Amino acid sequence: MKTVLGKSKAAALEETGYIRFDLSSELEHPGSMEQFRQLLQEFAELPLDPYNKKAHRYRRYSRGIILPWTKEFHWLPNYQTSDGEQLCEYFQGTYNAEYNEEYRAFSPLSEATKQNPLLTKIIMYDYEQTFWDRRTLTMPIHVGVHFVKMLVSDPHAESVASPDHVHQDGEPFTFCHLVERSNVLGGTNLIATPESAGKKREEIKPDHILEEFELNHPLESYGVCDRMVSHYVSGVRLGTDGGVAVRSAILIDYVPTVISIP
Ligand SMILES: [Fe+2]
Repeated sequence: MKTVLGKSKAAALEETGYIRFDLSSELEHPGSMEQFRQLLQEFAELPLDPYNKKAHRYRRYSRGIILPWTKEFHWLPNYQTSDGEQLCEYFQGTYNAEYNEEYRAFSPLSEATKQNPLLTKIIMYDYEQTFWDRRTLTMPIHVGVHFVKMLVSDPHAESVASPDHVHQDGEPFTFCHLVERSNVLGGTNLIATPESAGKKREEIKPDHILEEFELNHPLESYGVCDRMVSHYVSGVRLGTDGGVAVRSAILIDYVPTVISIP
């Protein structure tokens, strides 16, 4: 993927705390387009987020690890409940005020998606943009992969992200790749200073906003170094083009392995 895109964006990420980039040239290959269609199919079948059924938000989540010394990526197994349900747990500590110190468990990605070479390529491309203390790289890097769809069909409804305010994730790096956007009003991304975390969009001083933009075409992307910036995506409402409003994105976060036995 790097040969298509040229120079690494890692230096820019380290300097400014966020980067915008575009992986759409990947889709020029017929094989990749086929793989992209499989990802679209996964989004078409996403289950409703069980933690807020009024948020018009659909999602799946799975986890993997990268071994930095071999650059290998492996998916981690699902958790199977006693009644046979497959789940994957997610924990953000104190970083999501809506679910403070709570574990959430989501449906995992399908096996077909986990085997999708385009998804693995994207995961490894993002990883190449991250930067770590060299000691950290003697342990696996944990990768969280969220498929999140915001969808509304009612002109009075709004699909909102969680948390629905400017925030930091608590994960050192997060990347966002648009999969689909159609007939959407809103869904605007914001990058702001770290001090803006916890505030509503309208409470932020203009000089604390670094950039505000929309992701419009497939695999248009951005990434953040979490401690250097805060971020937000505004709610999605129905546009005027007819049909439903849909904004689908793949969110990928990278967390070091920390050994701490109290
Ligand atoms: Fe976030």
